[in-house]
Amino acid sequence: PLVTTGELVTRAAAGRSAVAAFNIITLEHVEAVIAGAESAEASVVLQVSENAVKFRYGRLLPLARAAAVAAERASVPVALHLDHVQSDDLLRQAADAGFSSVMYDAARLPYEQNLAATRAAVDWAHAQGLWIEAELGQVGGKPGPGGREESAAPPLDAHAPGARTDPAEARAFVGDSGVNALAVAIGSTHAMTTRTATLDHDLLKRLSATLDVPLVLHGSSGVPDHELAAAVAGGIAKVNVGTALNIAMTGAIRDFLAAHPEAVDSRKYLSVGREAMVRAVTGIIRTVGRPAA
Ligand code: G3H
Ligand code: ZN
Repeated sequence: PLVTTGELVTRAAAGRSAVAAFNIITLEHVEAVIAGAESAEASVVLQVSENAVKFRYGRLLPLARAAAVAAERASVPVALHLDHVQSDDLLRQAADAGFSSVMYDAARLPYEQNLAATRAAVDWAHAQGLWIEAELGQVGGKPGPGGREESAAPPLDAHAPGARTDPAEARAFVGDSGVNALAVAIGSTHAMTTRTATLDHDLLKRLSATLDVPLVLHGSSGVPDHELAAAVAGGIAKVNVGTALNIAMTGAIRDFLAAHPEAVDSRKYLSVGREAMVRAVTGIIRTVGRPAA
């Protein structure tokens, strides 16, 4: 069934577990994430990023509607989340498109501007009954609209570096903005293709002790299993995964097409890619835990 992100994250945080949130791009992503969650018997979040909307010719609704219908028919609880929203126009489409939550991303801005923009987004979201996540201390590696690296983040395979979320600043930000959850920069980097990130667990411990909202880990594809498990134990309640699914899908399709150069039926390779994503989803959900039903 379709449920809200707020209830999944709240339940995960209460059980010192985490809900996995996967970025969806194609219908195969939607199907694979739900199949993987069903096989792990766990709740899951389907999230659509602003960059994915741009890929879909700027249209949110077709993918959102497909995801909502798939969620309604799933045997596990599934929530819909709008991810990394910078555009106010897109933000305002969230509720009508079936999303119960948004991540408003103004982390590129200086603190005061981030706070002001986030507070305005929170006011609007709460008036709509939406749960809202924001970010403080930029998690690097997110491509800009032109596909270019947007932040002064380290090379993609580098171990972490980049900015870190300051606990005192985060406390003020959460209190002044009214966000329901905070994405924290503790060493992960977006779009890593190797799982070599090391997290700052001491910083996570301090953030978790200082803040009274659930914490979200972005760029989780680059984080090894043991580090992910430790992050959940340290207070991460939502684990965002995107690139890992693309690595699984693309790798499987590449291998299939290399072995079958005569193949033309898209179902043949898409099903191989989808199955690889199902396995990736199940593996990550098993690592980050399953909230008590
Ligand atoms: O918001 C989405 C996640 O942070 C995805 O990051 O593609 O590096 O797993 P990732
Ligand atoms: Zn992210």
